[in-house]
Amino acid sequence: MTSTITPDMSVPAAISVEEQQFNDLLEADSRIEPRDWMPEGYRKSLVRQISQHAHSEIIGMQPESNWITRAPSLKRKAILMAKVQDEAGHGLYLYSAAQTLGATRDDMTDALIAGKARYSSIFNYPTPSWADMGSIGWLVDGAAICNQVPLCRASYGPYGRAMVRICKEESFHQRQGFEILLELMQGTDEQRQMAQDSVNRWYWPALMMFGPPDDDSPNSAQSMVWKIKRHSNDELRQRFVNMLVPQAAVLGVTLPDPDLHFNEETQQWDLGVIDWTEFHEVLAGRGPNNAQRLQRRRDAHDEGQWVREAAAAYARKQSARTEEMAAS
Ligand SMILES: [Fe+2]
Ligand SMILES: [Fe+2]
Repeated sequence: MTSTITPDMSVPAAISVEEQQFNDLLEADSRIEPRDWMPEGYRKSLVRQISQHAHSEIIGMQPESNWITRAPSLKRKAILMAKVQDEAGHGLYLYSAAQTLGATRDDMTDALIAGKARYSSIFNYPTPSWADMGSIGWLVDGAAICNQVPLCRASYGPYGRAMVRICKEESFHQRQGFEILLELMQGTDEQRQMAQDSVNRWYWPALMMFGPPDDDSPNSAQSMVWKIKRHSNDELRQRFVNMLVPQAAVLGVTLPDPDLHFNEETQQWDLGVIDWTEFHEVLAGRGPNNAQRLQRRRDAHDEGQWVREAAAAYARKQSARTEEMAAS
């Protein structure tokens, strides 16, 4: 008698011991470490997310470094320099976290400078006024905190641990931005206008930093199952707006959304419609500063070539010396 059971109807294939261990670690809310077995999709998804995050930190230095030489006082210059250096550090921790998954620094850098890798679209907007240093800190670093605090509990150990330190520094960034805006708002009419103009320009792009709406975010569900992501894009965006409204009142700035209103039923602030066409345009490389940001990154990479060569030559000399000493 022939079997009528087709492969599709058979019981699901038993999973391997390693996969069971991986699932158990996730179930227990424990960390997956570089030595542990992991599904290829999990590894790839993390490399994509962590490298994009690293690129965002590195490209994110540019809009602000534009103002280091023009900061209005020595104190502001010192704070801004420290902040921009922090962002470089964030990029380096994150590249290192991606390297624990087998990605190489060269491949990640090549993908970025070839324009093949993504980074947060927010950094493709220009910074024409000093108030933009305030808006970036308050809104962009503020959005980054909402996004990143839950990542401290990401299931992949090196990523979660990197995020703990990054988040501490981001909260300093957010406060310094808030403080810049507060000072401007307590200044002359012209300074208040400059602060408001800047908030008007950064508010919507900051909301877009949480990514597309949940029903248009194909990777989110799997990332939640893998406990890389803990909350949906819309949930985090809502949390951010709820946090901003009282802070805007303290500053005395208006959030540029005429439809923003408090919903008594949900006890949340309902927001107006986000222009997702703009988001997709910027993401596709057609934002106001995409070409300039990438060119600057390419130039910096080329200018650093001699440093990399010198470091490699020194490392070769060092290991030759060690070998000589071992042989003698
Ligand atoms: Fe950062
Ligand atoms: Fe930051």
